[in-house]
Amino acid sequence: MSRLVVVSNRVALPKETRAGGLASAMQAALAERGGLWFGWSGRLVEESERSLEHRSEGRVEYALLDLTRADYQEYYLGFANRTLWPLLHFRQALLDYSRKDFAGYQRVNRLFAEHVARLLRPGDQLWVHDYHLIPLGAELRRLGVDAHIGFFLHVPLPPRDLLAALPHHEHVFSALAAYDLVGLQTESDLQALRGYFRDECSAEIDGTQLRLPDGRRFRAAVFPIGIDTERVARQAERAANSAATKRLIASLEHRRLAIGVDRLDYSKGLPQRFEAFGRFLSHHPEWRSKLSLLQIAPPSREDVPEYRELRSRLERLAGATNGRYAEPDWVPIRYVNRSFQQETLAGFYRSAHVGLVTPLRDGMNLVAKEFVAAQAPDDPGVLVLSNLAGAARELHQAIIINPLDPDDIVESLETALAMPLDERRERWAAMIEHLRRHDITAWRNAFLHALGEA
Ligand code: UDP
Ligand code: G6P
Repeated sequence: MSRLVVVSNRVALPKETRAGGLASAMQAALAERGGLWFGWSGRLVEESERSLEHRSEGRVEYALLDLTRADYQEYYLGFANRTLWPLLHFRQALLDYSRKDFAGYQRVNRLFAEHVARLLRPGDQLWVHDYHLIPLGAELRRLGVDAHIGFFLHVPLPPRDLLAALPHHEHVFSALAAYDLVGLQTESDLQALRGYFRDECSAEIDGTQLRLPDGRRFRAAVFPIGIDTERVARQAERAANSAATKRLIASLEHRRLAIGVDRLDYSKGLPQRFEAFGRFLSHHPEWRSKLSLLQIAPPSREDVPEYRELRSRLERLAGATNGRYAEPDWVPIRYVNRSFQQETLAGFYRSAHVGLVTPLRDGMNLVAKEFVAAQAPDDPGVLVLSNLAGAARELHQAIIINPLDPDDIVESLETALAMPLDERRERWAAMIEHLRRHDITAWRNAFLHALGEA
């Protein structure tokens, strides 16, 4: 078996509490197969002090590169998270572009490529991840790397018209043609990619293959990412007896619990969720003092102004709803700005009657899948899921809502809280069956198999 070399901006070390789908998914994907994981160390240093740290944990070797303040500012905060992130999540109005940031993005991709190229051995399979590193494959090719290189986009891909709104978009997106295989989360992401290459690059499309006029060829296909379903189920079962879960259950005093777990990100639809929860309590006085929303929202990308503004907005919204409806012994929204270990989260999911996953756009949304995997088979909770999350293309038995319509969320809460046990079991059984079959191992194997064939 060839060595797998994974490259991503964010890297998760074992036992690290790190909110983010890419890090948790790749940790699970690499744990059993082993390989080399290259990415950012998370440190910011002066250029003269930049170093590459090598570590080894279990079957995974890590190579962790420091960034400078300028890299962080231009590549990570700037082009990746103020330009590409809003664009790819269909939020053109939030997009902030500067040539300086774009140059920083290209510079860091070149730097990553130079370091990765030095670490490669003959026969290695390379797998690059997410929007931070779109040009990495082209940079590696420029350095003469002829290994199989795959790319997986964890976030959505909007249609061509939106992609083409990005200044110099052709330099960014056409670089995908340097990969042998590009993986996407959903069929509509794939259609967007094909549309872009057809209309902007005059590509010919033949099945999964795209051919450019200059002779470059690559494949593109859908690989919806999964979770380690059995592991989450085991964690949830174990966590049911943990101190953290017991404390949560005792604090509810037999009231019902709805749960949301999201990075504090404007793509997650948190203001709309808080607004809908307030409206639910306003329309349903009978549920006051009987239902709480536990919203876990670890702060994310706090050096980006839009994220800081969102945080203040959510504090105001949670404060207003709590001020209006709270009782001396009950708070409607338990709003928690910190991250938790996945094991702890699994216990919380299992204690909840409703899982609220209502992003305005999401590549997949692993929390939706983890919520389902963590449920007790004899008394499962109900998943409320946004039709704008990739997960809705698979979890058809969730209550599917449009997160832009607060009344849709209100009605879904009514339906979820009234749902008979038989129906909850039936819906859950279909979803868990899907998640068992399409778990993280199946995802990794399907992608690497296709990469080997490409
Ligand atoms: N997560 C975590 N601790 C937290 C919050 C989230 O470990 O306090 C994990 C969560 O279990 C999931 C991931 O972060 O695996 C979030 O992935 P998702 O696809 O839902 O959203 P993303 O953050 O990638 O946009
Ligand atoms: C999303 C992105 C990942 C990213 C994660 C956390 O899942 O697709 O690439 O790692 O959010 O964001 P952060 O900026 O902390 O890496």
